Amino acid sequence: MGSLSTLAVACAVLCQALLSLASVTYAVPKTYNTGGFAYAPVSGAPVGISFEFFAFPKYFNSVPATSQCLANWHSISGTWPPIRIGGTTQDRATYDASSADYVDYTVASSTDAPSALTFGPSFMSLAGGYSGSVVLGLNRGYNNVTNTIAAAQTAVKNMGNLIAIELGNEPEYFASAGQAITSGISWTPAADAASQDNWDIWVGSAVAKKAIIQAGVWLSSPSTWGNAELIATENTTAQQYVGTYCHHNYPGGTIQSLMTHSTIASNVNGYKSDIAAALAVGKPYVFGETNSATGGGASGVSPTYGAALWTMDYSLRAVANNVSRLYFHHGTVGACQYCFWGVYDMGAPYYGATVATAALAGASHIAVLDDGTTNYGGYVTYDASGNALRALLYNSDYFDGTGTRSSQTFTLTGLAATSVKAKRLTAANVLSRVDQGSPPTWGGQTYTNGNCVVSGTETFETTTVTSGAATFTLQASEALLVNLQ
Ligand SMILES: *[C@@H]1O[C@H](CO)[C@@H](O)[C@H](O)[C@H]1NC(C)=O
Ligand SMILES: *[C@@H]1O[C@H](CO)[C@@H](O)[C@H](O)[C@H]1NC(C)=O
Ligand SMILES: *[C@@H]1O[C@H](CO)[C@@H](O)[C@H](O)[C@H]1NC(C)=O
Repeated sequence: MGSLSTLAVACAVLCQALLSLASVTYAVPKTYNTGGFAYAPVSGAPVGISFEFFAFPKYFNSVPATSQCLANWHSISGTWPPIRIGGTTQDRATYDASSADYVDYTVASSTDAPSALTFGPSFMSLAGGYSGSVVLGLNRGYNNVTNTIAAAQTAVKNMGNLIAIELGNEPEYFASAGQAITSGISWTPAADAASQDNWDIWVGSAVAKKAIIQAGVWLSSPSTWGNAELIATENTTAQQYVGTYCHHNYPGGTIQSLMTHSTIASNVNGYKSDIAAALAVGKPYVFGETNSATGGGASGVSPTYGAALWTMDYSLRAVANNVSRLYFHHGTVGACQYCFWGVYDMGAPYYGATVATAALAGASHIAVLDDGTTNYGGYVTYDASGNALRALLYNSDYFDGTGTRSSQTFTLTGLAATSVKAKRLTAANVLSRVDQGSPPTWGGQTYTNGNCVVSGTETFETTTVTSGAATFTLQASEALLVNLQ
């Protein structure tokens, strides 16, 4: 027994030492387009917000954190985050040019989404007042193109920041929702594609703008509901009105599967052909609506720090795979598990999105440093001169608060600087929630509940670079953003 326990102790020490020797090593190309990596362009601020159509005026007028949370990212990146207004209720909305109200609807409970609503010109003026770009989703389900054209024309007139109009939201559900446009026809992907093409031409020509439509807009996985198939049906008349193609993406699952790096890589890889189809016709591809789980989020998953880690890694993986922008959905105020902020509390995922925003700030290109098959990930961004700008390291080993928190070392080689500064994203464990009193910290700072004002002292960790190499230790379920310049 004595010798056995001595052995166990010896092994515990030795095995730990051996483990820490197995550092994850990434060779960082000093300049863009070298090292045999695939690169993707970064333009503006790729991490954006989607607001559910009927709730958009409430977010802007009655949720004080909204403006500050968006402004925080503007301070980080110099670009106002892109927003998209749309969702299921865009296909329940009728434009009323004579209404003085942003929106009109009645609901039984304040946490219900309306089954029908009207919106007036001030809805578009409110959107037009936002300092960043806006994608506006309009109704196709009702099959009233006259009404949608009237709304689109008002949008073009009142919104200098309008970059795209979507026609319908997740149309694969139009038939089950009893939408008028499916009446008397078999609502297949081909029927929807023919409908999208016609509507692109009708609305695009009515507002006299080429490249104004953000097409696609399905949730169900490609290729059945996918852009390759849609694009194949478009003639040049229809395609000239399309500016971007999009898909929605809600991976779902447990916290552990959601935040695991290899799961994230494989989820994003599932969109490779959809992305390639858009790029092949020279148009950008975006995740037009996305978040951790459908239906406002999963209560045990979406508000957690684990979901914050997903938000961060997923955003970078998507951008590195040529997704130009991601719009993280925000649903009914007061009934939104995945929301980054609300009236009372911040949501942990805001921290992950903030780290992604910081990683991409001012970057021109990004490359993935890992092969996407393990729990460990790395990205490197490049500035406009093509020099390595920042590296983001992610240890997705799962730590839920039980047992000892493991750690993993990461070594970056090929660095030009003699020392580097880094900021850490951490929290007590992956189950931590802001609304339960356990916010993450990002470089030692937190965002204040209710108003999203940053609080605390920004903290950097300095690491010496020896012969171009630096080693960093990340605990399980942590990320580190390293400034390489
Ligand atoms: C379609 O919209 C137009 C213009 O807003 C409106 O006058 C008309 O009544 C609508 N048609 C139907 C069938 O609702
Ligand atoms: C292009 O396709 C639309 C249907 O989407 C059709 O109405 C139009 O006539 C076609 N134009 C040409 C030039 O073929
Ligand atoms: C992104 O798209 C460009 C072409 O626009 C291509 O050269 C590059 O390889 C793509 N990157 C990835 C990671 O697929």
